[in-house]
Amino acid sequence: MRFTGQVAIVTGGAGGIGQASAKLLASQGAKVIVADINPQAGEQVAADIRAEGHEAQFHAVDVSNFERVEALVQFAIETYGQLDIMFNNAGIFGDGTENVIDMPVETYKRTIGINQDGVFYGIKAAAAQMKDKGGVIINTASIYAYIADKNQFPYHASKAAVVGMTKAAALELARYNIRVVAIAPGMIDTGLVDAWRADERVWNTIQKAHMRRQLGTAEQVAQVVAFLASDEASFMNGHAYFVDDGAAS
Ligand code: NAI
Repeated sequence: MRFTGQVAIVTGGAGGIGQASAKLLASQGAKVIVADINPQAGEQVAADIRAEGHEAQFHAVDVSNFERVEALVQFAIETYGQLDIMFNNAGIFGDGTENVIDMPVETYKRTIGINQDGVFYGIKAAAAQMKDKGGVIINTASIYAYIADKNQFPYHASKAAVVGMTKAAALELARYNIRVVAIAPGMIDTGLVDAWRADERVWNTIQKAHMRRQLGTAEQVAQVVAFLASDEASFMNGHAYFVDDGAAS
């Protein structure tokens, strides 16, 4: 129970990686705010956690809206009195159909608004609460911050920004004993990659990108998130850590 007495927010908590992380953090003693734009799925995750005898509440949020993210952090304070762990994990992927020339500017802006601005808002709002007693902020980047794929231009831009923001925030927030780290997952078998599942050739190619030729699971990523959030990772700061079975190497 390494998180007993601690409070965590997990954005994208209704999805694959967020859900697995929320459940694992709660099972290890954290009180968890499951935050997502999808209320049905998010409420269900919180209910599942409570059914296991742990503590969780759902809060609806659109992470691309700063006021809503501030309200999310405020909800954690009002509900559980503190905030120790902020997992800025909500994100969207492109449909892979448009290159940088054809892509509407609005498509770019939407991805940046959620994947990049959403992480900025999460860092900003959480750090304002954590600065008196410290905390840990974990951001979800991707191997796509480092390697390129076709027709995912805004996703690459946003995830590279997450790595940059992680470094800058870690440096600025160190004086408050706030650690800021990121994870850079390879392909993880969640709803995010559903569009690729139908095409066997594409799916095989994705599997083979990993050294042991299969996608990761949300639970494998959650184990790393919990480790990074824990005191066992107390000397880990400012970097993005690959969780990718060597895919980006
Ligand atoms: P997912 O699609 O299962 O979960 C994403 C969650 O984010 C969903 O529950 C969705 O409702 C929520 N969400 C979307 N827009 C939102 C918004 N504006 N405000 C609040 N919540 C919103 O996908 P997955 O795989 O769990 O993704 C989690 C993170 O991991 C994302 O940032 C994604 O980019 C990243 N990632 C995923 C990889 C994969 O292969 N699945 C690989 C590398 C990174």
